[in-house]
Amino acid sequence: MNHSLLLSCRSGFESDCAAEIQQRASQLQVAGFARTKPEQGYVLFECFGADDAARLHRELDFRQLVFTRQWQVVTAQLDVDQGDRITPIIQALTELPPCARLAQDWPDTNEGKQMSGFCKKFSRPLENALGEKLLAKSDCVLQLFWLNGTTLYIGYRLIANSSPYSMGILRLRQPSEAPSRSTLKLDEAFSILLNEQERELYVQSGQQAVDLGACPGGWTYQLVRRSMYVAAVDNGLMAENLMASGQVRHYREDGFKFEPIKHNISWLVCDMVEKPSRVTQLMLKWLTQRWCRYAIFNLKLPMKKRFAEVEQDLQQLKKGLAQTGLHFEVRAKHLYHDREEITVFACIHS
Ligand SMILES: C[S@@+](CC[C@H](N)C(=O)[O-])C[C@H]1O[C@@H](n2cnc3c(N)ncnc32)[C@H](O)[C@@H]1O
Repeated sequence: MNHSLLLSCRSGFESDCAAEIQQRASQLQVAGFARTKPEQGYVLFECFGADDAARLHRELDFRQLVFTRQWQVVTAQLDVDQGDRITPIIQALTELPPCARLAQDWPDTNEGKQMSGFCKKFSRPLENALGEKLLAKSDCVLQLFWLNGTTLYIGYRLIANSSPYSMGILRLRQPSEAPSRSTLKLDEAFSILLNEQERELYVQSGQQAVDLGACPGGWTYQLVRRSMYVAAVDNGLMAENLMASGQVRHYREDGFKFEPIKHNISWLVCDMVEKPSRVTQLMLKWLTQRWCRYAIFNLKLPMKKRFAEVEQDLQQLKKGLAQTGLHFEVRAKHLYHDREEITVFACIHS
């Protein structure tokens, strides 16, 4: 069997996820085609070459895939009998490399959600049956993706090149003191777009930050929580509890015209609802003029051809940053808490 890749995404974003993997595969000269249906919450990318799915999974950087939450190489699709699901799963393992542990996912859809309880109950008996087939030293996870109680995809994913979270979803609790639900986006962005080492290095207490389009203060709250001093730029009203922290100055100004007095800003964040190309240009200005070191910002997506817009904006950003001649990073993700937008991290290293 020629293996395929299974990529899960937010329901409704299948065509963007498909367009992205199609393009990334062709950049690696891997031929294949994406199969998906609207609202099913995942995409299958069928490769023509026998080892191509494994190669894509190894060589594409998961952190560079915007619309994919989680992914796996599919080695088999199974229809199992409710009476004995375990035997066919064990029989299908011959095509798999040794795996360190078992993970079970399902599409993030209303139908898929019903698999949650089943998978919880099924884990223990399946792990018992797997026994020594699970090797602690392996760099892979045995990944099952259940469409319903009897149909599943079986395969693996590389631990170092996939999301550590079940279904690629980081669930966060809304802090009661935060003034808006958008606060979760920035919290998630710090966790997903930076790894642990980068968080330790880039996010430090006492840093200066600017929040463009800050009101009512959900993103500012995340910066204040991380002990930063924040210039909050917006014509709206900021939450009083944030102003009382003494860490926030409110500037009732246009975020596109605002310039910090001192160019010693560590973090620029921006959640203004504006054309994505315009926000991209603004971020590029702040980064290339060295007004800030790190930026996290949202790009609001158009109704159609969302991947094309994202690709164009990110290319523009990378091109502009490359012109500095300095080492830079750009990563973007359609986060769990994002809806019609993606979140981007960018920085220039001195
Ligand atoms: C989605 S809300 C931001 C929510 C905020 N991140 C939070 O977590 O509470 C967008 C904000 O951008 C502001 N905004 C839009 N255009 C702006 C501009 N040109 N300059 C400053 N603020 C702007 C709006 O007033 C609005 O408060």
